[in-house]
Amino acid sequence: MTEAAVPITPAPMEGHGVYNRSSQVQAAGSSPALSLLEQAATQAALARAPEPITIADYGSSQGHNSLAPMRVAIAALRRRAGSSRAISVVHTDLPDNDFAVLFRMLAEDPESYQRGEPMVFASAIGRSFYEQLLPEASVALGWSSWATHWLSRVPAEIPDHIQSAFSQDRAAREAYARQAAEDWQSFLACRGREIRPGGRLVLLNMALDDAGGFGYGPIVQAIYDGLLALVEEGFVASEEVRRMAIPTVGRSLEQLRAPFKEGGQFAGLVIEHLQFFLGEDRIWAEYERSRDAQAFAVRWVAFSRASVFPTLAAELSGGQSDPRAGEFMDRLEAEIVARLAASPVPMEMPLARMLLVKQGG
Ligand SMILES: C[S@@+](CC[C@H](N)C(=O)[O-])C[C@H]1O[C@@H](n2cnc3c(N)ncnc32)[C@H](O)[C@@H]1O
Repeated sequence: MTEAAVPITPAPMEGHGVYNRSSQVQAAGSSPALSLLEQAATQAALARAPEPITIADYGSSQGHNSLAPMRVAIAALRRRAGSSRAISVVHTDLPDNDFAVLFRMLAEDPESYQRGEPMVFASAIGRSFYEQLLPEASVALGWSSWATHWLSRVPAEIPDHIQSAFSQDRAAREAYARQAAEDWQSFLACRGREIRPGGRLVLLNMALDDAGGFGYGPIVQAIYDGLLALVEEGFVASEEVRRMAIPTVGRSLEQLRAPFKEGGQFAGLVIEHLQFFLGEDRIWAEYERSRDAQAFAVRWVAFSRASVFPTLAAELSGGQSDPRAGEFMDRLEAEIVARLAASPVPMEMPLARMLLVKQGG
């Protein structure tokens, strides 16, 4: 793909700190990857002092969920390189991401990794991670959580759903599978250039379970049914809903390994660790304690509203500035809450954690 042709999708997460306040599901899902990140930070080849050690955070959103991983990485690097060594933390996301919230949070949050760390320097890049973002061989440690399952574009309309994994339309499913394979290679190729020899990259992604299941069935179905209800109420047109899609994919372990098939490496990267696991459904656990179906539904809707509603709203006929966008999100939220609260069920969350090493260190 040429530089100019990289399309900018999806829409960023809901701004003004909404994602930061509504992404506990993602934070909990990432926690099993923190030990891998610590291992990576302990083993990664580092630039020679006084050159800073660069950590890249790919798909940071508004940054709150990056605090814990960056603290883990910085602590491990400090043990190796001392307290005065300069560490550069580069958060990357799409150009329209709310970076202002990220920088305010870094300055004000008591959990900020910058607290007591005058030699940690944070910056941001607003550009798709399907392009090279940083200079050749400059990154010692890369981290990306809940981001690389977002495709670079919507590859096809999904006539019977908003998530290709639940569609019966073969052409749509194949188009998504092709795009997922292409994007995975693009992402790895770019990181292969940026990561320094001996550097490490840790990824936490949505995955497919052994049976090819995407998970999240009840919430995804509630979103689609909620959209159809909004059509019936005449609030949105069926044309608009037909264009709506959540351009995310779960990848099987086999699909994650596919680019590495020949000779075990791709773009100079080799897999040191790859593991499937099911994310812990803390919302269900809380529901089992409280039996509060409304609270259960509200928490799951917060997960999807902050992350996928902006992408759906962008397909209203007026685009991102459609005057119905705010009301659309509120009404869709209410539709989904009603559906989930009516029959709470546990949610399956298939995830994969991965540690890649750049050869040559
Ligand atoms: C669900 S959020 C994850 C945020 C955070 N890493 C976490 O673990 O909660 C996914 C992020 O990936 C970003 N993203 C999606 N596609 C991207 C792309 N092509 N380039 C850069 N960022 C992208 C989105 O804008 C969003 O901020």
